[in-house]
Amino acid sequence: MSSKGRIQDTTLSNLIMSADDAAALIPSGATVGMSGFTGSGYPKSVPLALAKRIEAAHAAGNPFKIKVWSGASTGPELDGALAKADAIEFRLPYNSDPVARDKINKGQMDYFDIHLSQVAPLVWEGFLGNLDIALIEVSGITAEGALIPSSSIGNNKTWLDRADKIILEVNRWQSEALNGMHDIYYGTALPPHRVPIPLVRPDDRIGQPHFRVDREKIIGIVETDAPDRNAPFSPPDDVAKAIAGHLLEFFAHEVKMGRLTKNLLPLQSGVGNVTNAVLAGLIDAPYENLTSFTEVIQDGMLDMLDAGKLRMASATAFSLSPEAAERLNNEAERYRHKLILRPQEISNHPELVRRLGCIAMNGLIEADIYGNVNSTHVMGSRIQNGIGGSGDFARNAYLSIFMTHSTAKKGAISAIVPQASHVDHITQDVHVIVTEQGLADLRGLSPKQRAKVIIANCAHPAYRPMLEDYYARALKTAYGLHAPNILSEALSWHQRYVETGSMLVK
Ligand code: COA
Repeated sequence: MSSKGRIQDTTLSNLIMSADDAAALIPSGATVGMSGFTGSGYPKSVPLALAKRIEAAHAAGNPFKIKVWSGASTGPELDGALAKADAIEFRLPYNSDPVARDKINKGQMDYFDIHLSQVAPLVWEGFLGNLDIALIEVSGITAEGALIPSSSIGNNKTWLDRADKIILEVNRWQSEALNGMHDIYYGTALPPHRVPIPLVRPDDRIGQPHFRVDREKIIGIVETDAPDRNAPFSPPDDVAKAIAGHLLEFFAHEVKMGRLTKNLLPLQSGVGNVTNAVLAGLIDAPYENLTSFTEVIQDGMLDMLDAGKLRMASATAFSLSPEAAERLNNEAERYRHKLILRPQEISNHPELVRRLGCIAMNGLIEADIYGNVNSTHVMGSRIQNGIGGSGDFARNAYLSIFMTHSTAKKGAISAIVPQASHVDHITQDVHVIVTEQGLADLRGLSPKQRAKVIIANCAHPAYRPMLEDYYARALKTAYGLHAPNILSEALSWHQRYVETGSMLVK
């Protein structure tokens, strides 16, 4: 396929149009299912044109809003531009754009934050209402009219199948060598017709490389040439390296105890600098033939593939720094056979995570002394990003690990608190908590045993005595001694931060 010939099906040529013309096909009030997952494979040109159109409508005094569904977070040209234009009335299932986050937290945008594996089934059930338009980035269209996916799959299969109308962005920036990397499984169904998903190893291909599409539904095709935009990773700092060090020591211990082999188990790793540091640490660790069954492929995984440590990785999207994205694009032919991108209902499927026995490694906002984890809400009220795939993996993993700096906001906030101000992952779904201070292995422990090990191993020294004091007094005064708390004080650290800017007592 030549770089100019991404649309091989010539019968579709009459549908090629400008981004402005395609944006004009989206009416106010429409629900639009967009491609895009953690800054990759999102439409880059029609959302910008739509934002411009909506800004003009607002300036003329005409209300104009749409509902946006996606795979997960997208890029500044989508969430950022539309949020800035005050164009989104409802958003699902995950957002990390700062402008959209601000609108949500100011109560100007409704946001349905949901487990990423559950989006497609909810849409198929019809629970979320009609999907008017699918706006999907692809890297090409075959002569037979099938769609070659780009750098993320997310919910695209569902959007293409369910939407009344389809607009495609064909992005020439995406490498043509992505063709063949994807595995689109068409065997999901709603109960009572569900059957086992026939995937027993992370390497298994159970679907087809391209999306099928009803061409009668395509109303516009826009050609683009814009790169995926992701934030660069910073090199691992001392804190990230310390967390990685504790975790690698833990893996070594588990191997010694015979609970893991030298191949470990399929790795799932959330995005962020800390998880990237863990992946960097694994390059020098004595493990071989590793695999990954995860949501996103980040820089560290490409490095592990290059170092011969990682045999293959399965995900639903790339989440790469600009340099790593360039590397992947230039060498996609080399990487293609070691990487598989799948729909997010498969990459994150609880049945598969449980069957494969994934090692889940995710970040957190705060954990309480009993091991309940808050991944989403700052001070119990403000959304940071969303639960993403952390719940899909944490509940079903062989080992569910959460990692964090022991403090946030330059020490003004303790990541270990008496009681979490919001709970995404109940203590039963949290096996291990790691900070730069140390690691707490919570498996098999009662709440009181958990509290002791979390306070001793994970809390920052500035907060450890405060936690010890709280726990000691709770033991004397609590309503019960299974998981003792002082109800009037349990959230007082958060209240103090809101009032004084610090959880520390001044
Ligand atoms: N209180 C207030 N803010 C906090 C906080 C706390 N206890 N802990 C972290 N934060 C803030 C940080 O200050 C930072 O804000 P800033 O960008 O304004 O400085 C932001 O949250 C990110 O924190 P950071 O320390 O950089 O960690 P991270 O990049 O690893 O992100 C989560 C941590 C929890 C926000 C992130 O992992 C997340 O969104 N998780 C939920 C989804 C998920 O797990 N996805 C992966 C599944 S596949």
